[in-house]
Amino acid sequence: MTDHSAPARPELDRFRDRIAALLQDPATPHGLARTLRAVAKELDLAQHHEEGRKEWPGGRIDAIPAQVQIGGGTHRIDGFFNIDAVPPADLLWDVREGIPLRDSTVRFLFSEHFLEHIDYPRSAKWYAREAHRVLAPGGRLVTGVPDAAHVLTQYPAPPERTAGMIERWYANRSCREDINTFLDLVNYVFRDQDDDPTYNPHYWAYDFEKLVQLFTEAGFARVEPWDFDPRIANPKREWASVYVVATKLSG
Ligand SMILES: C[S@@+](CC[C@H](N)C(=O)[O-])C[C@H]1O[C@@H](n2cnc3c(N)ncnc32)[C@H](O)[C@@H]1O
Repeated sequence: MTDHSAPARPELDRFRDRIAALLQDPATPHGLARTLRAVAKELDLAQHHEEGRKEWPGGRIDAIPAQVQIGGGTHRIDGFFNIDAVPPADLLWDVREGIPLRDSTVRFLFSEHFLEHIDYPRSAKWYAREAHRVLAPGGRLVTGVPDAAHVLTQYPAPPERTAGMIERWYANRSCREDINTFLDLVNYVFRDQDDDPTYNPHYWAYDFEKLVQLFTEAGFARVEPWDFDPRIANPKREWASVYVVATKLSG
């Protein structure tokens, strides 16, 4: 068993301590503090990733799961092997470093509200190629993301609609009072962020056409709309999201 409390790389811990000290110093300017918080978050992810690598140093895990969820966070799905950059997960792994599974082994790969949290093009395109690599022939990749078309086609919107949508997306977020107009909702899809140091920003926006292009380029034979299934997907994601299922050529 891996000792998850052990520092993965001491130099990363020292770096984190220096950043923590700077963040506590009232003389640290706001802009620098924002960037340092982002670096501190990347250091945490690097540490988690290192823990995952210690568990499977060869880079390909021993288990051969048939159903895998990427970036599920606390939304675990029965019967799925959960890979995420932070706990809880069956495997802590930064998927920007690839998917640590064997070629052509997975039958069903699922992710929702994950893809927009990794940078485009490098990480998103590599993720799409990695998903294609690990899927068995005929295997399926389901991907759900916030639907950029949902907000763009409604702009400009009347105040009542704006208020309703803000309530649905931001009711439980600490930055709720800073989201005031419909353009703030457009910003949500493209670059959602807040000052919470644990929050993972949106790096890229997607619609159906972009998902089809991304997964077709990665080698998938078909990319089609996916009918939302609350037995698998997080029910709170049904509204204003777009889901596709990409199928790898069989045989
Ligand atoms: C907005 S949450 C979505 C959680 C869940 N899928 C849902 O819909 O409720 C994004 C998830 O993606 C994970 N994530 C973000 N970047 C990641 C990365 N590079 N590698 C693995 N997981 C990542 C986060 O840790 C988080 O659990």
